[in-house]
Amino acid sequence: MAEKKKVLFSGMQATGSLHVGNYLGALRNWLTLSDEYECFYSVVDLHSITIRQDPAVLRKSSRDVLMLYIAAGLDPDKCCIYYQSHVPAHTELAWILGCFTYIGELNRMSQFKDKTAKNLSNINSGLHTYPVLQAADILLFQADAVPVGRDQVQHLELCRDIAERFNMIYGDVFTIPAAWLGKTAAKVMSLQDPGKKMSKSDENVNACIFVRDERDVIIKKCKRAVTDSLMQVKYDKENQPGVSNLIDIYSACTGKNTDEIEAEFAGGGYKELKIAVGETVADTFEPIKKRFAELESDKAYVDGIIKENAARAALVANQTLQTVKEKIGFP
Ligand code: TYM
Repeated sequence: MAEKKKVLFSGMQATGSLHVGNYLGALRNWLTLSDEYECFYSVVDLHSITIRQDPAVLRKSSRDVLMLYIAAGLDPDKCCIYYQSHVPAHTELAWILGCFTYIGELNRMSQFKDKTAKNLSNINSGLHTYPVLQAADILLFQADAVPVGRDQVQHLELCRDIAERFNMIYGDVFTIPAAWLGKTAAKVMSLQDPGKKMSKSDENVNACIFVRDERDVIIKKCKRAVTDSLMQVKYDKENQPGVSNLIDIYSACTGKNTDEIEAEFAGGGYKELKIAVGETVADTFEPIKKRFAELESDKAYVDGIIKENAARAALVANQTLQTVKEKIGFP
């Protein structure tokens, strides 16, 4: 009998287009892990409403993210690709887990502190309980592995703590998940301020490369990347964070290691490196954009995936939820 595959869960918010950090830090790793695991990939639209969303824009950006998953190469027949809001078990388990999470734990989350600092006019309780919903996402599927960028590691640690706390009381209900980080590009930095994470909400348009940016835009953004005046292509995050970020991106796209990249650009200026990074990133995104355009014009196919996969996800999620309810003692 074939051995049961381990389970993988991950997700991305439905706000705006995906950027090079989302792709290299997460989505690219999802592709390589897809055969080894039974995979669930959610477009976490419930998480997206901690910030005010225009309904039409949210609807479109959710679908765009779902299509980008497929365009990047995830096979919807093999992986379960679905909208979080289509599976009510997420919110139901989130309420339950919230009763096993301490306010102090939520107060310590860096993302909560960052987001509240940026949204002074809308510090809603969803921002605070966001990691509880994230824990519910993962635990519903009994995930073993959660491939994410480095910024999500703290949320993963909290998820493990919540699961262990619950298991201590009720027995082995939840699988304890582990964050899965890629060797390269686990934290892609802003091209304009390499001290900051690349983020889609950056006000500086040159700070962030989107998967669906035009080729010449990608190359232009790379050419404008902030570097330093040392004029040596060297991987040294402390003293040359901008150059190291470009090397990291190049390494993730080409598979070359740091030594090989330093040797490739030895004696050259930063211009060569920037152009090479721009062209490689543009080449990486070209087939994704092409497939995305095909999916955009095949509404029936995408609608079918959305419907079927929501049912698949709900089936698995509801089993865990049922076990949790029985353990707690709900009549
Ligand atoms: P989100 O939507 O901000 O990002 C999606 C994924 O991209 C990674 N990422 C990055 N990786 C490298 N460099 C960057 N600059 C960069 N920016 C983002 C993120 O680490 C993430 O893997 N809370 C999550 C979404 C979520 C989730 C989950 C993830 C909700 N439930 C359950 C895993 C499991 C988030 O906001 O990701």
